[in-house]
Amino acid sequence: MNSRIFFISANVPINFNLNFKLFKNKNHKQTIIISFQMRVIPYSALYVDVTVSDLFKKGFESLKPQDVKKAISGIESIFIQDPTKEQLLITMCVRGALDLLLQGLNYPPGTEILMSAMNIPDMVKVVRYHGYIPVPVDIDFTTMKPKMASLEKNLTKNTKAIILAWVYGSYNYAEEIYKFCKDKGLFIIEDNAETFFDTKYNGSPHADASLFSFGIIKLNTALGGALMIVRNNEVLSRRMKYIMSNYPVEGIKFFIKRLVKAIPAMMILNSTMVNEYARRIMISLGIEYKEKAISLLRGFQPDETFLNTYRKQMPEAMIAFLYLRMKTFDKAEFLRCTKRQYEGQQILERNGIFVPGTQADKKFYWLYPIIVPDQELCYDILNKKGIDAYLGATQLKPVPTPIGSKYEDPKETIEFFNKILYLPIHKNVPLESIQKICRGVVETVKGVEEMKRRNDLIRPKL
Ligand SMILES: Cc1ncc(COP(=O)(O)O)c(C=O)c1O
Repeated sequence: MNSRIFFISANVPINFNLNFKLFKNKNHKQTIIISFQMRVIPYSALYVDVTVSDLFKKGFESLKPQDVKKAISGIESIFIQDPTKEQLLITMCVRGALDLLLQGLNYPPGTEILMSAMNIPDMVKVVRYHGYIPVPVDIDFTTMKPKMASLEKNLTKNTKAIILAWVYGSYNYAEEIYKFCKDKGLFIIEDNAETFFDTKYNGSPHADASLFSFGIIKLNTALGGALMIVRNNEVLSRRMKYIMSNYPVEGIKFFIKRLVKAIPAMMILNSTMVNEYARRIMISLGIEYKEKAISLLRGFQPDETFLNTYRKQMPEAMIAFLYLRMKTFDKAEFLRCTKRQYEGQQILERNGIFVPGTQADKKFYWLYPIIVPDQELCYDILNKKGIDAYLGATQLKPVPTPIGSKYEDPKETIEFFNKILYLPIHKNVPLESIQKICRGVVETVKGVEEMKRRNDLIRPKL
């Protein structure tokens, strides 16, 4: 047998926990010996925000035959703050909620919709598939608010709506933006997919619709589903309820699949043991396990037409699960976790590292982005130091500029986006590890800056 032996070792002088393991890779008939000489800080940038006991206990409870009306009115009684003005709709996801809104609003083709310049491509695609033009509005990265100047510049007589996306857990009350948009008669959609922070806060009273996601990597996950609050527009909400009543209902199998998928995803992303040991093995074997975990989590089977993918009603079991998750959301615990994350932010900021969105009215963390002088280099160095910094942790991207001379690129958004790196500081990372990660980041960023400075000095001036 033509076996070959590979020695793979990670020689980073941080820790000398020498330890050999032997693996047989049957397919390639190779024996792989991996030496662990490096201690990793065992946390990942992404996290499934549910405990194992909650997943099993509440998951199984939701699988029992349900009185779904009771679950829906339970969610309404928790989340609706002003029953005289607000209606609640439960959709498969925020993309589905946006699609439903656009069906309900039924604008003429060619309508322009302003969008904060960072969002996931599918949100842009939903707007496009309705025949509308998504126009990016540049973002101020200190707050993650759209810039007023860009808003004014991009508004035309064809603009009918705006999607304000509060990304990375940076939430703004943004009175001046709401006032401007209201004065111009725009329909205001608040995309809070990344900013759920309280069962008692369901969005700005000035927004016409506020959307919250409970997808698998979101805070207080229900393994899927979204809540949409519609304000002061019973006609629109009735129209949407009617449209949704004609959607096929997803069966219990859909929810069971999500429960089953959540288990390996949680093992990969949440378990410190998997992070500590398996990370090295999987990377050594060339298995990009984080990508696999994430694609496992992004579970929508694309339908033959894009929008039909989201035109389904939530399975009853999943609504019941969402109700249980909302009922037991622990705000005090959430704030305690956030406090630890702030401490990391202080270390970073004290050392001159820019953390997007810290000047927002409310700053929580959904992902932990920082701005670095060189994405790839910082990523490599940090990973070699055992810090699982991540580049592709989210699908968030700058919203592309429509073709046509009158539209301008969201320059600041693109510039910052090209320097973002995500740190493995999720809600459950202990303070000591947060401090270690942040110190490692400061050291790395300073080193890279110094290197760049020297290169600039050495480079001959032409
Ligand atoms: C800013 C933003 N908007 C919308 C969405 C879509 O949410 P959902 O998965 O519930 O469709 C996401 C998901 O990551 C998001 O980050």
